[in-house]
Amino acid sequence: MSAELSPIDKAKFVAARRAADYVEDGMRVGLGTGSTAAWLVRCLGEMVREDGLKFRGVPTSTRTAELAREVGIEVISLEEAKWLDLTIDGADEFDGELNLIKGGGGALLQEKIVATASDQMIVIADAAKEVHALGAFPLPVEVVPFGWTATRALVEETLVSMDVMGRETTLRMNGSQPFVTDEGNFILDLHLDRIGNPRQLAMVLNQMPGVVENGLFIDICDVVVVGHGDGRVELR
Ligand code: 5RP
Repeated sequence: MSAELSPIDKAKFVAARRAADYVEDGMRVGLGTGSTAAWLVRCLGEMVREDGLKFRGVPTSTRTAELAREVGIEVISLEEAKWLDLTIDGADEFDGELNLIKGGGGALLQEKIVATASDQMIVIADAAKEVHALGAFPLPVEVVPFGWTATRALVEETLVSMDVMGRETTLRMNGSQPFVTDEGNFILDLHLDRIGNPRQLAMVLNQMPGVVENGLFIDICDVVVVGHGDGRVELR
């Protein structure tokens, strides 16, 4: 499967392939969203079809649900699963404490709900996602469409008093229209450069009226499987 891949795709593939080995018969598994998570879903599909692996997957987006069904994975809802043994998902950034920025693909809300309803969360990432301090990747914040400009003003005002370097916010677009999440919300991307205190920022953002969830995953990830373009895999 990995023969003709570019180094970046190879890095994503080898991380996904290694993480797939954590899935055992009978498990209920959260399936992440994004290009790295798509590799995972394809690997797991192959293991279902060729090795007879039997597990049920809870997808974190309509995209992942479609792909999972396509490759032969049994898909159930989180309500049906009630609790998950494991979630495997990608990330946009991770730091030395395994805190994450997620939501580059716009699925952060379902991803955070699913990850926190799991005994274990494994992140799969190429080595470029590892950072000293979170924040170079714009932080996604999911907001309700009603009054989103007022919510943005509140967010920007609050950022002034926080330990962050930038404070520009942009509404994520899909062509000429706002990008709409699976839950019918908008996404504000916060261009912060460096987040000094991710835990505090995550708490402050979620207290604001209009904010549904933010892309900081604090104390949720247990292991990061890091893939390299030459095929090496490391665990953090
Ligand atoms: C989607 C996410 C993704 O996991 C994150 O954006 C990483 O994506 P990719 O694997 O394509 O780099 O959080 O909401």
